[in-house]
Amino acid sequence: MDTAGQLSELTEQFDREAAEISDRPSWEALRLRWVGKKQGLLRSLMGRMKDIPPEDRRAYGQGVNLLKQGVETRLQELDSSLHLREQKEVKSLATDVTLPGRPPKIGSLHPITVIRREIEDIFTELGYSVAEGPEVEDDYHNFEALNFPPNHPARDTQDTLFVKNGKVLRTHTSPVQIRTMLSRKPPIRVICPGRVFRNDNDLRHSPMFHQVEGLAVAEGLTVGDLKGTLESFVKRLFTADTGVRLRPSFFPFTEPSAEVDITCPFCSGTGRDCKVCSSTGWMEILGSGMVDPRVLSGCGIDPERYSGFAFGLGIDRVAMIRFGIPNIRMLFENDLRVLGQIRA
Ligand code: PHE
Repeated sequence: MDTAGQLSELTEQFDREAAEISDRPSWEALRLRWVGKKQGLLRSLMGRMKDIPPEDRRAYGQGVNLLKQGVETRLQELDSSLHLREQKEVKSLATDVTLPGRPPKIGSLHPITVIRREIEDIFTELGYSVAEGPEVEDDYHNFEALNFPPNHPARDTQDTLFVKNGKVLRTHTSPVQIRTMLSRKPPIRVICPGRVFRNDNDLRHSPMFHQVEGLAVAEGLTVGDLKGTLESFVKRLFTADTGVRLRPSFFPFTEPSAEVDITCPFCSGTGRDCKVCSSTGWMEILGSGMVDPRVLSGCGIDPERYSGFAFGLGIDRVAMIRFGIPNIRMLFENDLRVLGQIRA
């Protein structure tokens, strides 16, 4: 074979070997084999110059140089594509220590807890203390002592959930009034926050909800004291321009009785297209009244000497109003996207 034929065969051989390169070690071996300083094939081709007849040397030198250039270019191309791949691999494996960390989620108080604590604070400042009672109550404390005789129709309005052995899930916090009056002497000033249960379930009612009961018993308490207490309380809990309205009502354990409404904050009391207050402009948040003398005497307190007032407030309702929560269920689904927006 003539030298030109040899050189073109070498070119083909290099191309075949170059096509096989898939990683850095095989590339390195290829490079050493062809253009290595000591044993590279091209170097030994150059070394053969002296064996070439002088008239062919020029062509031979050109041929070898051409081959060398082709080999070097191809090696460089392979080098940069290997380099690109290596960079990608490094990136996917590496830890970027400059990335900011993921912040831990900060917990927050449940809206019910926020409101309960606010209510406790307001009444504690007014000289009230906090009392508690059981959630599973007996008929006596939940009904009888509160002037709901057996078979009294007012029991129907409570949607009672019954437990075994004549016990009930308390339908209101008013039984804690009875427990307090049975265990303490007047003057009494307590609030009793807690869970209550009724067989009732819609947009504004949940079978479990929260009330705060208030009770004051002393000499000479009047409806004026009740109204003044509730007005200053409501204006502190909401805003000073919140409108308050007392509406005559009925509870077996208070006489006279009143429901307390505040102006609806969703429509500013206008009632225009307001689902929240059913377009009335008002929201009922409290039941209240003067403690019925029969209830006082049933607890061993002389109604001739003492009088008292009581009120019951829905904490859930207040939380919904304050935080603009349209559906009571949102309070109990524990969706962190909802609860996380509530800040005390
Ligand atoms: N216990 C009553 C209710 O749940 C509210 C209330 C409490 C009314 C105290 C008057 C006095 O409906």
